[in-house]
Amino acid sequence: MNNKEIVAKAIYAVVKDDLSLETIAQLLENPKSVDHGDVAFPAFSLAKVYRKAPQQIAADLAEKIDHTDFEKIEVVGPYLNFFMDKQKVSQAVITQIAKEKGHYGDSTIGNKGNVPIDMSSPNIAKPISMGHLRSTVIGNSIAFILEKIGYAPIRINHLGDWGTQFGKLIVAYKKWGSEEGVKNAPITELLRLYVQFHEEAETQPELEEEARAWFKKLEEGDQEATELWQWFRSESLKEFDKIYGMLEVSFDSYNGEAFYNDKMAEIVTMLEEKHLLQENQGAEIVDLSAYELNPALIKKSDGATLYITRDLAAAVYRKRTYDFAKAIYVVGNEQSNHFKQLKAVLKELDFDWSADMHHVPFGLITQGGKKLSTRKGKIVLLEEVLNEAVNLANNQIMEKNPDLPNREEVARQVGIGSVIFHDLKNDRLNNFDFVLEEVVRFEGETGPYVQYTHARAMSILRKADFTIDESKDYALNDKESWEVIKLLQKFPEVVLQAAEKYEPSVIAKHAIHVAQAFNKYYAHVKILADDAEKESRLALVYAMATIIKEDLRLLGLHAPNEM
Ligand code: ARG
Repeated sequence: MNNKEIVAKAIYAVVKDDLSLETIAQLLENPKSVDHGDVAFPAFSLAKVYRKAPQQIAADLAEKIDHTDFEKIEVVGPYLNFFMDKQKVSQAVITQIAKEKGHYGDSTIGNKGNVPIDMSSPNIAKPISMGHLRSTVIGNSIAFILEKIGYAPIRINHLGDWGTQFGKLIVAYKKWGSEEGVKNAPITELLRLYVQFHEEAETQPELEEEARAWFKKLEEGDQEATELWQWFRSESLKEFDKIYGMLEVSFDSYNGEAFYNDKMAEIVTMLEEKHLLQENQGAEIVDLSAYELNPALIKKSDGATLYITRDLAAAVYRKRTYDFAKAIYVVGNEQSNHFKQLKAVLKELDFDWSADMHHVPFGLITQGGKKLSTRKGKIVLLEEVLNEAVNLANNQIMEKNPDLPNREEVARQVGIGSVIFHDLKNDRLNNFDFVLEEVVRFEGETGPYVQYTHARAMSILRKADFTIDESKDYALNDKESWEVIKLLQKFPEVVLQAAEKYEPSVIAKHAIHVAQAFNKYYAHVKILADDAEKESRLALVYAMATIIKEDLRLLGLHAPNEM
């Protein structure tokens, strides 16, 4: 039970006839300062009922309320300030964490419901962008968070593996490419070919015609075209998998856009049957003016299908295949309109489940406040960024702990983790600047700082040779530990909040707060002093380390025991 629930119950026992438990719970406030206790109740709302001044009501209540769970209840004007019994709360929290370990905060709310999460989804033959990185790590974290509350997440990589650009690539490859070139550095080479195509096409417009012809062949299943396409796809995937390996993200499905080629006709038929398709200059559109949206372009005048046509087929396929409880799309902010259109068309098709589809948008990663661009060859290669992060982490570990036996492994966990953490610590809709040196710092609100706090706690426990005893009662009632305990107690709520908002930053912020509170505790209290409370202090260190590790896990980071 959290503190607000305890307070609400205690008040309710006294005002049963006049206020409901829910109303009381809603009225409760978090005092701004610790001097005003842990929970505050404004008595105004009872003034009408009792026909008394709120001050008087507060004073009366304070006398009647059962004090068992509180150190004291203070009346300040119309407010009742509740000071929790630290001994009791700390005992409950530490013992529960000791018993449940990383499962503290687990729940069954999701009822095992499937949740396909459309995430990462880069485009074949192009580098993974920072945007795709964001989608990957946000999606991965949301999957862990939803799993913790009882859903069954399905990580889907909706690869951009179809479109006219493949006609261009085939032409460019046949003219200027080599098998070796692609094998050696697939993405760099394919990107080079793509850029070259556009350059040459400026003076030789007939290339465009050739490209169209090749894409048509591809669509018709021509063997040479298909083989080339498949090869570009698999070489690109190999490259992407290197990055997914570094991030330790894996997918349950790589069904990309091409997978839906044979599944779109059915959608078009459904739209026709419901008389939703209109002709517009030879193209087929669905009017969405009722939703204040631009029309959805389903088929071009040459019969070619579009991005949204494939997404319609994908949505229907996912509903049939997974019977999802909800479906999530972790895709940049700039595609908000696309997902509004997608949902609107499905709604027009009378698919009620379209209400369970959620676009989870995010902002841009910038450099010096500007958007990172992949154009004009100025590409930021993600693999290089990640490798550099590992190097920087390695340098810092060399300085701090040169004898660390598994230094390389830890440097990887810290370096890669720092990039992930930096991405997840701000509200996902915010744009943020990426400065690698800042990201990998061991101080400040960074991943390494949180990991370092965990490692420090583990080192204390090792030094003390401490093992937690689930059957023991550990309790603390000092001011210093209280801040840590309150944060640990809040963890299950934090998880629910993160899940409701699809917002990993809620978890990241919790991790930072726990780390900060613990480091303060560590600075003020002699944890290893030989007195009656030593065991309880160590149990608190254990509980703190357990929760920080779980916070990090939910974000997709490791918590090394030593660093
Ligand atoms: N490949 C697309 C891009 O890079 C993202 C795909 C997102 N997922 C989807 N179902 N539309 O912009």
